[in-house]
Amino acid sequence: MEWPLVRSLLWVLVLVAHIHESKGCIEEERMSLLELKAFLKFSTNYIKPLLPSWVNEVKSECCGWERVICNATTGHVIEFYLSNINQESNYYPENWFLNRSLLLTFKELRILDLSHNGIGGWLGNEGM
Ligand SMILES: *[C@@H]1O[C@H](CO)[C@@H](O)[C@H](O)[C@H]1NC(C)=O
Ligand SMILES: *[C@@H]1O[C@H](CO)[C@@H](O)[C@H](O)[C@H]1NC(C)=O
Repeated sequence: MEWPLVRSLLWVLVLVAHIHESKGCIEEERMSLLELKAFLKFSTNYIKPLLPSWVNEVKSECCGWERVICNATTGHVIEFYLSNINQESNYYPENWFLNRSLLLTFKELRILDLSHNGIGGWLGNEGM
C-alpha cells in the first residue's frame, strides 16, 4: 500500500508550488521594515506595543502588516503610513533623526508618511 505516501508527496508538491506562485513581500524589504521598527521603538520611547503586526516570522506576510501597502503585482512596498506613531507616548523626545539608509531598500516606495512624530530631519545623506 504505497498510496498514502504518494498522496502526501503530491500534497507537498502542490503546497510548494503554491508558495512559489504567490507574490508575497520581498524578503529584503521585510527585514528593512523590521529594522525600521526597531529604530522607531528605540527613538520614540513608545510605551505601547509598537506596530504589533510587524513580526519577525518567516511566514509573516509583510504586505499584510498594518500601515504598509505593497504593489500587488510586484510585491514591493510602495507606501507606508507611520504618521503619529508616537501619540501614546508620555515621553516625547524633542527631536530625533531618522537614518536615511533605513529606507534605501525600498526601491518602489512612493508615499512615506512620517508626519507628527517629532522627526527633526535625516541622519547621514542629505537631500531627500
Ligand atoms: C505595480 O507594478 C506594476 C509593474 O511595475 C505597475 O505596472 C503598476 O502600475 C503598479 N501598480 C501600482 C498600484 O503601483
Ligand atoms: C545609518 O545606518 C547605516 C546602516 O545601518 C549605518 O551604517 C550608519 O552608520 C548609520 N548612520 C548614522 C549617521 O547613524
